[in-house]
Amino acid sequence: MDAKALKIEAARAALAEVRDGMRLGIGTGSTAAEFVRLLAQKVAEGMTIIGVPTSERTAALCDELGVRLSTLEETPELDLTIDGADEIDPGLNLIKGGGGALLREKIVAAASARMIVIADESKLVDTLGRFPLPIEVNRFGLRATEIAIARAAAELGLSGPLTLRVTNGEPFVTDGGHLILDASFGRIPDTRALSNALRAIPGVVEHGLFLGMAGLAIIAGADGIRSVQA
Ligand code: 5RP
Repeated sequence: MDAKALKIEAARAALAEVRDGMRLGIGTGSTAAEFVRLLAQKVAEGMTIIGVPTSERTAALCDELGVRLSTLEETPELDLTIDGADEIDPGLNLIKGGGGALLREKIVAAASARMIVIADESKLVDTLGRFPLPIEVNRFGLRATEIAIARAAAELGLSGPLTLRVTNGEPFVTDGGHLILDASFGRIPDTRALSNALRAIPGVVEHGLFLGMAGLAIIAGADGIRSVQA
């Protein structure tokens, strides 16, 4: 099976967790998009859900496919969020934000009673950090924020390039109007310490470490679907 087929299988298994009437956080990325496509089929068959999207991109796909959407203002408490990830460790801690939606993804996941992460097995790692950690930063004081991040990381024994994310030759701008620095620190042995240190930097809006948020991972691999509980 190719990567797309695995993503579809993980999305299909997650759909089995969705019940009629649920208030559902809907993730961002190629795996989450497969989930939206399958969800839209269920909606067309009569399933009722209230969806809260984690990005403008996901909102546009839901609109196109007829999945009814709400906002966190209208629906501030959700039953379940289903989203992809860039990396998943054995404790179901995640790196997210490869698609640039980490801030809304984290807000929506935090407003949900449960989070299920869906992925193909290539996303599994022993220790987070092979994938560069996305850090969403305010545009103001970008250089000062970069220096503060590098210093905070160094205190934890981490170092590596901080790369401003660029798409089509222009800085990538998030749905919240911020920029993203991708931090290539390598393995992050103490994710909680890094999370706390990044949080303490005023120019950091959010970072892509999702610690203790996912309760279940649905992983699709060559041998089939595997569910991992946190
Ligand atoms: C977007 C994300 C995505 O969930 C993550 O990048 C995984 O995407 P994909 O399913 O395309 O591999 O965090 O901000």
